[in-house]
Amino acid sequence: MKQELERVEQEALEAIKGVSDPTGVKTLKARYVGRKGVVTALLRKISGLPPEERPETGRLANELKKRLEKAFEKALQAFEADRGELMADALDVTLPGRPLARGRMHPITQMTKAICEVFQRLGFEIVEGPDVEWDYYNFEALNIPRDHPARDMHDTFYISENIVLRTHTSPIQIRVMESQSPPVRIIAPGKSYRVDSDISHTPMFFQVEGLMVQENISFGDLKGVLTTFAHQIFDEETSLRFRPSFFPFTEPSAEIDIRCVICRGAGCRVCSHTGWLEVLGAGMVHPAVFEMVGYDTDRYTGFAFGMGIERIAMLKYGIEDIRKFYENDLRFLEQF
Ligand code: DAH
Repeated sequence: MKQELERVEQEALEAIKGVSDPTGVKTLKARYVGRKGVVTALLRKISGLPPEERPETGRLANELKKRLEKAFEKALQAFEADRGELMADALDVTLPGRPLARGRMHPITQMTKAICEVFQRLGFEIVEGPDVEWDYYNFEALNIPRDHPARDMHDTFYISENIVLRTHTSPIQIRVMESQSPPVRIIAPGKSYRVDSDISHTPMFFQVEGLMVQENISFGDLKGVLTTFAHQIFDEETSLRFRPSFFPFTEPSAEIDIRCVICRGAGCRVCSHTGWLEVLGAGMVHPAVFEMVGYDTDRYTGFAFGMGIERIAMLKYGIEDIRKFYENDLRFLEQF
């Protein structure tokens, strides 16, 4: 009987090692220590043994039963633990994927590109100039001499007596004309700087400068080009208004308004109830400027214009505070 018990124990422990799932363990458990199990059957047989053997054998058999029950329990727990671990790092392939945050161009960059593309389609070439500029190019060559009152128009950041942060993109006109002869057809986007900061001004802002010079260029050409520009950036219904103005480097000069894109001219807060929005400065290049760069004023005429890119973007997207463009708030920037 003792040997029988030992053999059963060996066999059961061996069998446990071979199971691969909890059901297997439960089946084994029933086979050995269940009501109809091998060990249970052995326990029953004890009553048939000689009386002197019964206590010892009974004790051994009961101990064996306990050990086996423990072994089965342990095996079950091991499976449970494995299952828990699997559940913990389970991969739910039905979950939607996590989108990657995509970067995009700053709204001002997008607007600059859109503006340049309109003019490129009209045959204008993109050029650039330095942000840190000679006083000569920024003022002098644009017919704004040192003591000219027009310099009051610009609150300038001076680097030194003769060097400034350019207050507009107009000096690029001079640089281009100095380096090539007509025909000239350029567009020059870039940063400009003025000592100014409020709801509609930032110390650094963007402008696009335009210049077209060749024989027989008239104010009509300027009007045609700018009208095409407004139609393509806003829409075909957008009309323009030219108001007489003054710039030292153009004559005649004009300030150009577009029909308010918000209220379509009916009058609203954005256009201060005038129905018009000022978007551009422009005019026919002043002969004094041509003389500065050595162009023949009898032969050539040209027009020039300059616009603030933020302003166009504000109108296009209905933004009321220019500073929003430069606060780097992703909630704002992600909308474009
Ligand atoms: N440079 C002017 C400014 O910043 C804008 C301007 C006006 C540019 C007339 C031009 C122009 O080229 O013809 O206020």
